[in-house]
Amino acid sequence: MNKKDTSNSPHVLPALPYAENALEPVITAKTIGFHYGKHHKGYVDNLNKLITGTEYADLSLEKIIIATAGRPERTAIFNNAAQTWNHTFYWNSMRPKGGGEPPAALKQRIEASFGSVDACKKELAGAAVSQFGSGWVWLVLEDGKLKVVKTANADVPLTTGKKPLLTIDVWEHAYYLDYQNLRADYVSAVLDKLINWEFALQNAS
Ligand SMILES: [Fe+2]
Repeated sequence: MNKKDTSNSPHVLPALPYAENALEPVITAKTIGFHYGKHHKGYVDNLNKLITGTEYADLSLEKIIIATAGRPERTAIFNNAAQTWNHTFYWNSMRPKGGGEPPAALKQRIEASFGSVDACKKELAGAAVSQFGSGWVWLVLEDGKLKVVKTANADVPLTTGKKPLLTIDVWEHAYYLDYQNLRADYVSAVLDKLINWEFALQNAS
């Protein structure tokens, strides 16, 4: 039977893994409402419009991202596909009552790569603050080692062979309503109180 596989199309906005107010007071329901309900949804809607009738229409999100990365004539599709993926990954990188000590198996790997959990958090915070303009900071796995990288705009480490374990969105829309221009305060609050180390461990396994 030559049935066309349309399971990837249209792309859907995944449900948030918690209630919109579940990350308060670190990130307010108002911020999540706009960020998830307007920004993330907008990327999904734009992606579906842009890929209709193209060779990307039936591809998975990851395949679209890989196929359009670095192709200037496909920038709009790449940006909306990557931002769709990045935001879903970001929601899962946080949890209510997160932060604290990573699970032992992850802690060992963090210590092997950074020396200590605090050093890892410091590197994530430093990368977040030094990212000029919009972007993302990531904990990734590359060649068996944990590393911190930052990306600009919609860029995602998937396209350069790195395996993302965690991310923090450092676009202004992620924190401006709650922290105004104080990106460093937003990032350190996320790292101390929301970061989902269990999700990172799951991705590293
Ligand atoms: Fe965002």
